Amino acid sequence: MFDLKGKALAVTGSASGIGAATVDYLRAHGAYVIGLDIRPSDNADEHIAIDLSSRKSIDEAVARLPEKIDGLANVAGLAPTVPAAQVIRVNLVGTMALTNALLPRLTYGSGIVNLSSIAAFHWQQSIDQIKEALDLSFGKIDAFVEKHRIDDQPGRSYFLTKEALLAWCIRQRRTWVDRGIRMNCVSPAAVSTPLLDAFAGVMGERTKKDSDIVERSGAPADIAPVIAFLLSGASAWIRGANIPADGGVAAHYLAQENGL
Ligand SMILES: NC(=O)c1ccc[n+]([C@@H]2O[C@H](COP(=O)([O-])OP(=O)(O)OC[C@H]3O[C@@H](n4cnc5c(N)ncnc54)[C@H](O)[C@@H]3O)[C@@H](O)[C@H]2O)c1
Repeated sequence: MFDLKGKALAVTGSASGIGAATVDYLRAHGAYVIGLDIRPSDNADEHIAIDLSSRKSIDEAVARLPEKIDGLANVAGLAPTVPAAQVIRVNLVGTMALTNALLPRLTYGSGIVNLSSIAAFHWQQSIDQIKEALDLSFGKIDAFVEKHRIDDQPGRSYFLTKEALLAWCIRQRRTWVDRGIRMNCVSPAAVSTPLLDAFAGVMGERTKKDSDIVERSGAPADIAPVIAFLLSGASAWIRGANIPADGGVAAHYLAQENGL
C-alpha cells in the first residue's frame, strides 16, 4: 500500500511500545529500519544506541547513521516521572537536535514524524512558553525549568514538550519544501505501553478521564500505520499537520468545547 519498500528509515524509541510497533510495521512493508534507543534491542535491521538527553551521545549516534536516510520517526519519549529537565531534554531538545543533525542526510520526499499527544490539545494557551522552549539548547534547560517552576506543576514538563513538538511542526511547514521534506505529527490518546503505566502514576485522574471516552485503550499497532503513512510518499501533500490517532478523544474535546 505505502511505498516503503527499500526506504532507509530511522526510528527513535524503537525498543518499546509505539516505536517497536513502528519498526515491525515498517519492516513488514519492506523498509530497512535503523532503530535508535537508549535501551538495547534487536528488532530493527540495525540498532544504534542513543541517549537523547546528551549532545555527545546524539553526535556519536549520528556519526554511525548511514549517509542517506529516507525518513525519521521521532517516537522516543519519557513520562513525567523524572525531573522536568530530563523530560525536556529527551522529548524536545534532544529530539530537535537529532532531527537537525540528520536533515542534511534526508533524501528528497523524506517524511519527519514527531510523536505528540492528546496532551498537547490546548497548545495555543501556552504559546509564549512554547516559543521559549523551542529556542532552548541543552545548557539553558535548567534555568528555563526554574524560571517557569515546571517541576511544581505535575505533568507540565510532558504537556509542554508535546505542545512544543506540535508548534515546531507548524513552524517548519514549508522550511524544506524545495527538498520535498515534510514534518508532521501524530497525537495518540492513551496507548497501552510502559509509558502509559508510568504516566498514570503521576496523572491518574487525567488519564482515567480520557480512557472513559473511548471504547478501548489504544494499542501500539493502532499508531504504527499512521506513522508509516506519514513516512511514505502517499502523504506527499501533507505538511505541518497533526493527525490525532486517539479513538475520537480529540473530536470529543472539540464537540464538548463547541457545543456539538
Ligand atoms: N503510550 C501513550 O499513551 C502515549 C500517548 C501519547 C503519546 N505518546 C508518545 O509516544 C511515544 C512513544 O511512547 P510509548 O508509549 O511507546 O513509550 P515506551 O516507554 O514504551 O517507549 C519509549 C521509548 O523511548 C526510549 N527512551 C527513553 N529515554 C530515552 C533517551 N534518553 N534516549 C533515547 N531513547 C529513550 C525508551 O527506552 C523506550 O524504548 C512517546 O513520545 C510518548 O510521549 C504515548
